[in-house]
Amino acid sequence: MITVTEVDQNQMKRIAGEKAVEEFVKDGMTVGLGTGSTAYYVILKVAELVKKGYNLKCVATSVASEKLALENGITIVDLNDVDHVDVTIDGADEVDPKMNLIKGLGGALLREKIVAAASVEEIIVVDESKLVEKIGTRCSLPVEVLPFGHVRTAFGLSRQGCEPVLRMKDGKPYVTDGGNFIYDCRFPEGIDYISFKESALDVIPGVVECGLFINMVRAVVIAHKDGTVEIRE
Ligand code: 5RP
Repeated sequence: MITVTEVDQNQMKRIAGEKAVEEFVKDGMTVGLGTGSTAYYVILKVAELVKKGYNLKCVATSVASEKLALENGITIVDLNDVDHVDVTIDGADEVDPKMNLIKGLGGALLREKIVAAASVEEIIVVDESKLVEKIGTRCSLPVEVLPFGHVRTAFGLSRQGCEPVLRMKDGKPYVTDGGNFIYDCRFPEGIDYISFKESALDVIPGVVECGLFINMVRAVVIAHKDGTVEIRE
């Protein structure tokens, strides 16, 4: 009898993060560092490469990731000071079969999207619990908005068929690295991004960015409960 040992979610995150670095990071690259508990393992693995002598420049997608990177000896550069980012490795909250995503439960969607757009390759690292058939069915869509007039902005969001809920922390609105608020927008039927227009959100005055990542991903590294890892391209 073969016994398959299940690994826990944290181990899956580590397996996915480390595998992505092994596969996609090469000496001399400029690397985008994602944000969250899976990207944490990416950053530690990149730090190992730096200790081995790899010459890497990194761009961080959040204040937290920058701090972790610096504490581990990684050189951080400003996105404005590089032509492009060779590869970014980041987590996600939902991944559909076409590698479209929802990101932003960790609150860093704005910088993550700017860095993804500047990257030649965006690689996503997840454990299998993040896989969905249709995005928006497992979690709400985070939308970053300016604090000024945010209640009006939320009204505009609700007219797009969702129920926006202001994200809170310690009894106050959660504030992003960019000084903005986040509305988590629940779409009761999920998001059909072929008919749903991301631009319909973007044109609402006060909306800064939303956590939909459509056609931005080169590969997804998925860790499974049985300890195996799959690369979907
Ligand atoms: C942060 C994000 C994260 O990538 C996403 O929330 C996944 O995080 P984790 O790996 O901790 O589940 O989008 O804004």
